[in-house]
Parts: sequence; C-alpha cells; structure tokens
Amino acid sequence: MGNYVIEGGQAGKERLSLIAEVLQPTTAQLFAQAGLRPGMRALDVGCGGGAVTLELARRVGPQGHVTGLDFDETILALATQDAANAGLHNITFRYADATILAEPPIYDLVYARFLLSHLANVPQALAGLVRAARPGGLVVVEDIDLSGSFCYPPHQAFQRHLDLYAQVVRHNGGNSNTGMQLVELLHQAGLTRIGIHLVQPVFREGAGKRIAQVTLERISSAVTAAGLATGEDLAETVAELAAFAAQPNTIVSLPRIFQVWGVRAG
Ligand SMILES: C[S@@+](CC[C@H](N)C(=O)[O-])C[C@H]1O[C@@H](n2cnc3c(N)ncnc32)[C@H](O)[C@@H]1O
Repeated sequence: MGNYVIEGGQAGKERLSLIAEVLQPTTAQLFAQAGLRPGMRALDVGCGGGAVTLELARRVGPQGHVTGLDFDETILALATQDAANAGLHNITFRYADATILAEPPIYDLVYARFLLSHLANVPQALAGLVRAARPGGLVVVEDIDLSGSFCYPPHQAFQRHLDLYAQVVRHNGGNSNTGMQLVELLHQAGLTRIGIHLVQPVFREGAGKRIAQVTLERISSAVTAAGLATGEDLAETVAELAAFAAQPNTIVSLPRIFQVWGVRAG
C-alpha cells in the first residue's frame, strides 16, 4: 500500500475507531456547518475503518448515498461488515488509490480526513477530489498540524513520539503539518468560498489520552523499516508514554486539526 506508514487492517481499524470516537462531535459539527443535508451523495476518500462514512450515511439518509474509498482491502471488508451490522444500505465501500482518483463529477460532498498528510503529491490528490465534486459541490478536508501537539508537563517520550511520527511520514513522502497549508491548497485547487475551523482536543483521562501510545505502536514497523529507531527503543518509549498517560494530572493533546472546506465553481 504505497508509502502509508500506519499499520492497517484490524489493528489499524481499532486505532481509527479510538480516534473516531474522540472526534465524532467535531466532525459532525463540521458536516452541519459545511451544509451536508439528507438526500446528498457523498464521497469519503481514504475512509479507513469507515466510522465517518457511516456517520455520513446516517446524515444523508435513505434518499442519499455514500461511497467510501481506500486502498486497504482488509479495512474495507471490516467497514462493509460494520455498515451491514448497523443496517445501513446506502453505503458502498470499494478499493481506490487516492493518488490517481478517477471518480465521475457527481458528488454533492467530497470528504477526506487524515489522508492528504500521508501523500507525496497533495495538489494532484486534491485535484482528484475536486474533480469528483459536481459543479457547486463541496470539498471538505480535515488534516493535522503535528507541530501544534503538546503535553503537560513536557515529557521526553511524548516529544520522541512526535519526532518519530514526523520523520517517518516525511521519509515516506508525506508532511505531518499539512493542516496549516490546506487553505492555500484548496484555493490553488480552484475552490471558492473557502472556510476554516480549528479543533484541538486535549485529555486528562479516557480514550483520547491513549492515542499517542497507540499511534506509536502502529507506526513501529514503518519506523524500524526506515531505520529511525530500533524495536527496543520503541518498546521503551511506548511504555513511558503509557506511564505518563496513567498519571492523573498530566494532560495530552492531539495534533491541531484543521477543518477546511470550499465549493467547486459551478
Ligand atoms: C489515518 S487513516 C484515516 C481514515 C479515516 N479517514 C478516518 O479519519 O478515520 C488514513 C487512511 O487513508 C488510506 N490511504 C492512505 N493512502 C491512500 C491512498 N493513496 N489511496 C487510498 N487510501 C489511502 C489508509 O489506508 C487509511 O485507511
């Protein structure tokens, strides 16, 4: 699967479910603000475990339809099962490579969360997203600015996980600070009426506080393959992150998340 650095499949889906749970309220708010309505046809590119795809399907209702695309066949099969279990019949999950997207221009809303930061050629991928929107349709993206992550008190293992994440994404052609560039990129892609909103969850307990540790576990193979750290070094950092998160008065943030949207000219 190209240069994607985070373990996919079942383990990857469990991490994405954790993230989806934490971000459900702000992503739902984004869809409401962007103008998602019942009856719309939506496309979720790099849909992963499909948590947001299912949310879109509920929001567009039985008169609408959602297509989820990813290049991880295992995660697509799990997402398809989840949609069936949830009784949602207005979803199609299928394989596609987001770097060479060739969807017809039929979608009222095209969405991609945490995809662009992994890609080497973001303008090219974004052009594919824009082409998939119908004239007058919406393109909505969420992506991270890892450099805005923080914990308190400052902690060496937390900083180490940030450094390794940034390095391994860069090593594989991506940019973990893409969020900051999204307004400019959407403008260059020809979108109009561009809007922006910033989200940054912070946790003192609960699922969100474990995301740093779980992320480091899921990038371990890519980190060692790139020669950025040894397995032992990573295991030690994972244990330190877990111990830090277990302390009741420490706080841990997610990256800053940029939510940016625009309209395809009619
Ligand atoms: C960080 S996950 C985000 C998943 C989902 N959008 C979410 O927010 O829960 C990124 C997803 O993009 C997929 N992906 C990465 N590069 C891709 C590509 N070139 N084409 C299609 N999918 C890709 C990965 O398989 C993964 O499922």
